[in-house]
Amino acid sequence: MDNLSPRLSYPEFDGARNLKESSIVAIGILGIGSAYPDRILTNHDLEKMVDTSDEWIRTRSGISERRICDADTATSHMACDAGRKAIEDAGLKPEDIDLIVVATFSPDTLIPSTACWVMAKLNIPNCAAFDINAACTGWIYGVSTALGLMQNGLARHALVIGADAITKFVDFQDRATCVLFGDGAGAAVLGEVEQGRGFLSETLGADGRMGPNLMIPGGGSARPISQEVLDNREAYVKMQGNEVFKFAVRIMCDSLCGALSKAGLAPADLDWVIPHQANIRIIEGAIKRLDIPRERFIVNIERFGNTSAASIGIAMDEAVRDGRIKRGDLVGLVAFGGGLTWGAAVVRY
Ligand code: UT7
Repeated sequence: MDNLSPRLSYPEFDGARNLKESSIVAIGILGIGSAYPDRILTNHDLEKMVDTSDEWIRTRSGISERRICDADTATSHMACDAGRKAIEDAGLKPEDIDLIVVATFSPDTLIPSTACWVMAKLNIPNCAAFDINAACTGWIYGVSTALGLMQNGLARHALVIGADAITKFVDFQDRATCVLFGDGAGAAVLGEVEQGRGFLSETLGADGRMGPNLMIPGGGSARPISQEVLDNREAYVKMQGNEVFKFAVRIMCDSLCGALSKAGLAPADLDWVIPHQANIRIIEGAIKRLDIPRERFIVNIERFGNTSAASIGIAMDEAVRDGRIKRGDLVGLVAFGGGLTWGAAVVRY
């Protein structure tokens, strides 16, 4: 064809990006990766910063240490590292990715999205890219969003990254929050797999009325940055931890059971459960209620704390690398977080 306008000859507009006619049927995880800062902040370090103790933090939350970004590291740096590893693990190249979804509540900038920063830094030449904010449920929401777009034929290979540099938004004068969180990123490349493998079902939910229990009140359009916002420390995470706690165990169990029943499965069918790593007591409550043996739960909260949207991706990456999760295993993923939001997915890895 001659006379194609220069605009239409851009690669963004080539037929490869329009997959409608060849929509994928089974979608699974082709590759995964994770990344986190080298710097470790221990409970003993925190004892010197706020009125707390190693004993309180370990017994109330299960956390001993967490990773924290230095001043020059932003969410996209960790997201890129995790994303690069996931693309390599999938045996793909950056140019094979045609959708990037970054789940984060701590974007590098309000605009452009962190997904667009990742796209530029990883040299992904043309694709759709956007962020979603489902706080700690971000990894599940991100995967679910990507699956929907892929099932509609809009992408063949999606890079989904849960990444948060939460410690940039944590008040290191507030002992109720600063002991709980850590930074990191977990990524997965989704693509076509053989029938019977891949994601079998998901559930998503939210209750916006419970939003004030976990929020950053300042810095958005409701309370733009001002001296008053800064002085009141409103640009930091505020949390009614015990309110979130009360709701967490029930919602984790209900959403995982919901996803399992959609797939015609029961909790006992799962080889592994990867829960969002918020508090060991929440995870233990879920273990009891779901009646799944403890050794099937992937738990790394002791070393990472709550990494928000990154927690499931980091835990899964570790468990795959150390040989616990193998190809073909049935894995349940479940999370809850700010919003309040919740969600679960069942995947045959
Ligand atoms: O990913 C989703 C995000 N959030 C969560 O998942 C958080 C869910 N909630 C939790 O994990 C727990 O509620 C916390 C770990 C945050 C708190 O545990 P808790 O057993 O619910 O404690 P609490 O908030 O009821 O506080 C008990 C006491 C209070 O003292 P008083 O009022 O009883 O004298 C707090 O002031 O513990 C005190 N406290 C601390 N003491 C030492 C709170 N934080 C600390 C601290 N060190 N860091």
